[in-house]
Amino acid sequence: MARIAYVNGRYLPLARACVNIEDRGYQFGDGIYEVFYAYRGRLIDEALHFARLERSRGEIGLPAPMSEASLRAVIRALMRRNRVETGLVYLQLTRGVARREHCFPDPAPYPALSLTVRAKPEPPADLSGWHAGAVTLADERWGRCDIKSINLLPNVLAREAARRAGALEAILFDERGMVTEGASSSVWVVGADQVLRTRALDRHVLPGCTRAALLEDVAAGGTMFREEAVSLEGLRAAREIFITSATSFVKPITSLDGVPVGNGAPGLVASQLYARYLARLRGG
Ligand SMILES: Cc1ncc(COP(=O)(O)O)c(C=O)c1O
Repeated sequence: MARIAYVNGRYLPLARACVNIEDRGYQFGDGIYEVFYAYRGRLIDEALHFARLERSRGEIGLPAPMSEASLRAVIRALMRRNRVETGLVYLQLTRGVARREHCFPDPAPYPALSLTVRAKPEPPADLSGWHAGAVTLADERWGRCDIKSINLLPNVLAREAARRAGALEAILFDERGMVTEGASSSVWVVGADQVLRTRALDRHVLPGCTRAALLEDVAAGGTMFREEAVSLEGLRAAREIFITSATSFVKPITSLDGVPVGNGAPGLVASQLYARYLARLRGG
C-alpha cells in the first residue's frame, strides 16, 4: 500500500507529495517540526507535544495553520489512511512560500503544513536487546536549541559521526565541558554517587516530551534525582547512561567512545524507568 502524506490541505501518495521550491523551509530552514509516537492508535504524551509545537511556533512568530483540534483530526485521518496504529507521526510547519528574501514576507504567506506517518514496531518487552553505543562530541548547534527548528545540520553531522564510529547516538557537550543532550535525544546519567541527573532546561537543550513525562515517573519511583548538568568526566565515570525520546523511548547507552558504561549492560535505573514507561503506554 502506497504511503499517504498530508500536504497543505491534501492527502497525497508520498511520491506526489511535493512542496514549492520557494518554500521558506526548503530555502532557509524557516520552520519547525514535531515528532509523535503513536501506540495502538493513541498519541503518546500528546498534550506535551502539542504544547511544544505551540511554543516553537510562538518563538519564531509563525501563524497557526489551523486549530489544534483540526490538527488532531488531520493526524488521526492520516493514520487511518495509512493504516498505521503504532508508529511515528512527523509534522512540519514552515513560513510558507514567498520570493526569496531573508526578512519575513509581508503580507505573510499561509504557513505550509506537511505530515507523514510511518509504522514502527512496538517497544520491546525489556531492555536486553534495546541499548546502544554513543560517542561524545562538541555541541556545535545554535543558541536556541529549545526551539524544535528544522535546521538540523549539526545534529545530522553528529549522528553521522556516531554511525561512522559504530555507535548510535552522539552525546554533545558545551564549551564548559558540560553535557547538553544527544543529537536527537535527552541524556540521563546515573553517577558514581547513585544520583540520576539530567540537565535543567535552558536554551541549549530541547525540552523533551519523554523527559517531562519521565520526570513524573522518577518522582513517583523515589530515585535520587537532580536536575543538573553532568561534566564529561562525570559522564565517563557514570554507572548508567540512557537517552530518551519519543522514538527511542528509554534506551541505555552501554558503551561510550568504545568503553563499556558500568558493566556494559542496561542498568537498574533505566530498567525500572523503562518498565514504568511501558506501564504508562499500556495503561493509557
Ligand atoms: C535534540 C533533541 N533533544 C531531545 C529530544 C527528545 O525529545 P522528545 O522526548 O520530545 O522526543 C529530541 C527528539 O527528537 C531531539 O531531537
